[in-house]
Amino acid sequence: MCGIVGYIGNKKASPILINGLLRLEYRGYDSAGIATVEEEKISVMKNKGRVNNLNDLEGINNLKGTIGIAHTRWATHGKPSKENSHPHMDNSNSFAVVHNGIIENYQELRKKLTDKGYEFLSETDTEVIPNLIHYYYKKENDVLKAISRACKKLKGSYAIEVLSKYEPDKMIIARKDSPLVVGKGNGENYIASDIPAILSYTKDFYFLDDNEIVELTRDSITFYNQELEQIRKRVKVIDWGAAAAEKDGYDDFMLKEIHEQPNAIRETIGAKLDNGKIELEDLNFSKEYLESLNKIYIVACGTAMHAGLVAKTIIEKLCKIPTEVDIASEFRYREPLIDEKTLAIYISQSGETADTIAALKLAKSKGAKTIAISNVIGSSITREADYSIYTHAGPEIAVASTKAYTSQVVLLSVLAIYFAEVLESSEDKLINKLKKAILELPAQVEEILKDVSSIKRFAKKIYKETDMFFLGRGTDYAVALEGSLKLKEISYIHSESYAAGELKHGPIALIENGITVVSIITNKDLMDKSLSNIQEVITRGAKIMMVTNQEMDNKNFDCIINIPKTNPLISPILSVVPLQVLAYYISKEKGLDVDKPRNLAKSVTVE
Ligand code: M6R
Repeated sequence: MCGIVGYIGNKKASPILINGLLRLEYRGYDSAGIATVEEEKISVMKNKGRVNNLNDLEGINNLKGTIGIAHTRWATHGKPSKENSHPHMDNSNSFAVVHNGIIENYQELRKKLTDKGYEFLSETDTEVIPNLIHYYYKKENDVLKAISRACKKLKGSYAIEVLSKYEPDKMIIARKDSPLVVGKGNGENYIASDIPAILSYTKDFYFLDDNEIVELTRDSITFYNQELEQIRKRVKVIDWGAAAAEKDGYDDFMLKEIHEQPNAIRETIGAKLDNGKIELEDLNFSKEYLESLNKIYIVACGTAMHAGLVAKTIIEKLCKIPTEVDIASEFRYREPLIDEKTLAIYISQSGETADTIAALKLAKSKGAKTIAISNVIGSSITREADYSIYTHAGPEIAVASTKAYTSQVVLLSVLAIYFAEVLESSEDKLINKLKKAILELPAQVEEILKDVSSIKRFAKKIYKETDMFFLGRGTDYAVALEGSLKLKEISYIHSESYAAGELKHGPIALIENGITVVSIITNKDLMDKSLSNIQEVITRGAKIMMVTNQEMDNKNFDCIINIPKTNPLISPILSVVPLQVLAYYISKEKGLDVDKPRNLAKSVTVE
């Protein structure tokens, strides 16, 4: 997805902007550009391709401006090209704009502006913004007012930075439904769509809310609402070290993040399980309220949704409340039955996923209480939700989510125990056993990661394959879904995940000699049935990778990964790890870009 960086200070802006864009490369993009302003002249440098290519553009080193905006574009309207890259200028070259998000009424605005004599040079929705600002500037003769009026006309989502030749010592930014943060420095200020872009310069951040506009100079940051009434905002200190967002000697962020899982889980558990009943920072639900619920919805996208599937089983088992899991982009449009007896939980690593945020707004509008689970303090979803709880996984840079998933499942398990304790719906014995098992998880993940050589060998054997299957029952099925998604994302191998018992109802027709099937078996009660399903595919010539914590008589598998035993409710936190490692090494064998898979973005801020 698109990324934004901005700088206003006394240093040359272009290297800071390019450095910031490089730190946002993980989001996925197809073109990049910067604009600086100097002596009332705006200079724009942009092109299709990598951020580093900007350094080869003629004249880039001559940009002396100390104020600048920058952007990486992930094409939505119009192909990746120089013309469609940001920044975009208005016809009079007075305003330069970078934009994240989608302007839904851009065609209508474009027509209106065209009728008034404006010309458009790109296919983008963004280009209407600088021209609309120019249009209002002619009426207002005031940059801030012109931007505010233009924003009021925009439908859809935007995070914008605006440079103007009329006020060359100022920068103005605005947001609606697309993230934007301001980093406060000393005599200088920074802007970014994502914290890691500017984390090496400052730890003091302001998070913009929807419809806010900010005017920045070198020494001041002034916040306004859309009516241009001044508002106050609190600075938040972000304590992620900049090194946490670097590779720390690993070949890729994904491998680093896989290995960070023990610590991410430890940090997420924190002191929550230390003494007596669980208390969660922000949550103070009464027994009466929880008893009044007739349903819990868990809503999310991709990997976060898979974490929700694991949580469904835990919540239903411990709390006896019917729990439904839904894909955020589907949830919104199927008229879900929501009222004040519904509790809706939204999971999002980034906290910026547009579909998940929209689904949360829907539940809120219908009277449900909403809980956000996110990895990013102050992210959009946490500001929309009634309550927020955080995974403490640290920045996740690789597009393929790993440590966020395991941390989410841990936090959801803790949340389920919290509900059960308030409700008194489960025996203490079961709860205590589960708490103990959760505390053992970090060391158990460490144990799995100590030796991954057999997974690596198996990856080498199968990396040229074009189709694979992942099978499991119960929570192992939820892991099968996640293992299959990881493989697709970073190795581009087609794979399907099935509840093992479902195979014989159709998909078994696809099993043929030599095909690889990954089986996950971590629940003793389901083992015999699952093994029968695996036998059915072995008979048809499948190669098997078995991930298990059970003793099996038949060890006739092509690869067997023994993982530590734990409570079956939380076994996904362990069984997913070999699947992450498998996807990683297959991708490496194929020579692919593990951290930035094609067509994907880390933070999906469009619906
Ligand atoms: O930031 P979010 O957790 O809301 O992101 C949701 C999905 O886009 C994300 O999990 C995606 O599926 C990952 N690429 C999976 O590895």
